[in-house]
Amino acid sequence: RASRVLARPLTINGMTLRNRLVMPPMTRKFSPDGVPGEDVVAYYRRRAAAEVGLIVTEGTYIDRPAAGDSRRVPRFHGEDALAGWRKVVEAVHAEGGKIVPQLWHVGMTRPEGRGPSPDAPSEGPSGLLLNGEAAPNGRAMTQEDIDATVAAFARAAADAERVGFDGIELHGAHGYLIDQFLWERTNRRTDKYGGDAVARTRFAVEIVEAVRAAVSPDFPVIFRFSQWKSEAYDAKLATTPEELEAVLRPISEAGVDAFHASTRRYWLPEFEGSDLNLAAWTKKLLGKPVITVGSVGLDGNFTDAFAGKGAPVRAVDDLLDSVEREEVDLVAVGRALLQDPEWGAKLLGGRTDEMTPYDAASLMNLH
Ligand code: FNR
Repeated sequence: RASRVLARPLTINGMTLRNRLVMPPMTRKFSPDGVPGEDVVAYYRRRAAAEVGLIVTEGTYIDRPAAGDSRRVPRFHGEDALAGWRKVVEAVHAEGGKIVPQLWHVGMTRPEGRGPSPDAPSEGPSGLLLNGEAAPNGRAMTQEDIDATVAAFARAAADAERVGFDGIELHGAHGYLIDQFLWERTNRRTDKYGGDAVARTRFAVEIVEAVRAAVSPDFPVIFRFSQWKSEAYDAKLATTPEELEAVLRPISEAGVDAFHASTRRYWLPEFEGSDLNLAAWTKKLLGKPVITVGSVGLDGNFTDAFAGKGAPVRAVDDLLDSVEREEVDLVAVGRALLQDPEWGAKLLGGRTDEMTPYDAASLMNLH
């Protein structure tokens, strides 16, 4: 059944995917000096060769000093890094897959989270950390900073098209820069970038518009966003569909072709009294293709690895139903694909009994 439902092509603004399986962005830290090398090429090639339809690369830094400074996270600027990416693209294309880079700016981070240069200035909407406290090394972005950052996203998108990528994904999720503008807690600005929910989308809207203007009309732009709540991370953007629409509609209308709704669990009903998850609500509200993600296939059998652990879980059959009903379009599978590069081929080939069982210890390996 998985094969029947998922092995169907889908076209998003001119990009035709051979099936509904997506590899979501996952930070690897295997790119010395920010340049992806042959091992990174082989890592992505392996997943494309094993039926992943769309790969979203690990988050890759745009050209902005405060975008991020881990020396092992790949850059998306500088001809050395872009030449590395070009090889990744060629390898994925040779295997029939499509690939988009996830463009990333980390925004405000704690000094200890900043890798080799903890004193480097960190920038965000109001100089605040995710818990709302002022960051010791942080500053609120000026209009000049904002303009330069928007331009850096646009430049990266143009570079993505130049080196042969099939589109781009903007990282608007997980408490990083774009998300920090969307949240009230981290965005205390009193200019046009702060205020109500719609005003807080302005930064994202400007990025999408600038990206759109920098690439061809049929170059897909995917926007990733998230919302969930945990003790450390209060990141709910909306508590009702109306609130969700207020945030996403301006971003959508600026020129987004598809949304990637990151929640911890794809099946989590998003709003009270609703069976639909975040991705399905996004599609229902905006009518654009969506990627859903979260804890698919972690037990190696495409069944539910979290059953009995207190989450409101349902069988993966529900996920397939949801794809069949066209509530969601694409299914991203992260950790299971790290564990078993051939997970997609095994799923579509009906060989689920051959999948490597999930083992959290392998998470930061590159293989
Ligand atoms: C991630 N995730 C993530 N998300 C993102 O938008 N950008 C990123 O760079 C990363 N990095 C990252 C690293 C590692 C090691 C993991 C496990 C995850 C989140 C990821 O894309 C995905 O949403 C989650 O892993 C949930 O999907 P699975 O793993 O349950 O299928």
